[in-house]
Amino acid sequence: MQSRDQPRGELCVPSPYRVVDRTVETADTVTLAIAPVDSLARAWEPGQFNMLWMPAVGEVPISISGGVGGGATGGDRGGDGTVLLHTIRAVGAVTRALCALEPGQTLGVRGPYGRGWDLDAASGRDVVIVGGGLGLAPLRPVVHETLRGRDRYGRLAFLAGARTPEDLLYMSELGQWRARTDLQTEVTVDAVPGREWRGDVGVVTTLLPRIPFDPGRVVALVCGPEVMMRFVAAELLRQGVAPGDIQVSLERTMQCAVGSCGHCQLGSSFICRDGPVVTWERVGAAMGVRER
Ligand SMILES: Cc1cc2nc3c(=O)[nH]c(=O)nc-3n(C[C@H](O)[C@H](O)[C@H](O)COP(=O)(O)OP(=O)(O)OC[C@H]3O[C@@H](n4cnc5c(N)ncnc54)[C@H](O)[C@@H]3O)c2cc1C
Ligand code: FES
Repeated sequence: MQSRDQPRGELCVPSPYRVVDRTVETADTVTLAIAPVDSLARAWEPGQFNMLWMPAVGEVPISISGGVGGGATGGDRGGDGTVLLHTIRAVGAVTRALCALEPGQTLGVRGPYGRGWDLDAASGRDVVIVGGGLGLAPLRPVVHETLRGRDRYGRLAFLAGARTPEDLLYMSELGQWRARTDLQTEVTVDAVPGREWRGDVGVVTTLLPRIPFDPGRVVALVCGPEVMMRFVAAELLRQGVAPGDIQVSLERTMQCAVGSCGHCQLGSSFICRDGPVVTWERVGAAMGVRER
């Protein structure tokens, strides 16, 4: 894993990054494109996160939602000199300060940290990617990566959900994915209080029956609010998917991000070091869903 190969001390010191672009995704969420000021961006894996630091405000963990540049890989595995994307929802002091950053302004970045999605485990299998709300952020590079290595996988499906149409991230990209024939993309929203919506209404689990997968051949990658991940995992287990074939990305309060402080402990795991992506086999009991 990338974070294991790097000296811990170096990883604990933020490097200066500059905002090079800012995209407003929804009323409270923006995607920042950031580039290192005086260093090279570190290589990263889909599912890993960085600690973003606003001096005098604080530091928070934010998933890497994509990369720009990076040569042959197109950027989604990082590499020297790449621009990193982070999609941030303003919920408190630090995330509000990050969302207010404009191109040209700077922030501190340390990372990447943690274990990302295990795409080797998905090789030769059907892949069902399920994202809810902000959970689309760490899954976006997975969609890019699986499409880039499309031949490695069987059936490929992406199920996306949000509270309302206004909360859906990456709208134009979702449209492009829906037009593809080698990726089945289904989108639903919980409710339609605002603008016109001709798509599905209902929680994301209602989309699962549309994906004709063989439970013994599928790997599921799931990220979203914890309650949503519990429901999705419960439905997949009910259909006969093995808990070890369900990967989820967890959020816990973090401070050090290198497995030292204990803030992110879940059962015997430190989510910053052993996650954020873990199998249901590892955390299902602690998350309160029984296995079949
Ligand atoms: C591995 C990881 C990846 C993450 N990726 C992203 C991302 O891509 N984009 C993004 O916007 N956010 C992401 N988060 C959540 C983000 O770190 C929190 O929203 C942030 O720490 C809130 O800090 P704050 O100072 O802005 O707000 P605070 O004042 O700390 O909190 C505001 C509100 O958010 C709640 N909150 C704080 N931290 C979390 C958390 N970790 N999980 C759930 N609720 C929380 C608090 O209970 C409170 O209600 C991620 C968290 C983790 C652990
Ligand atoms: S954040 Fe310190 S141990 Fe995980």
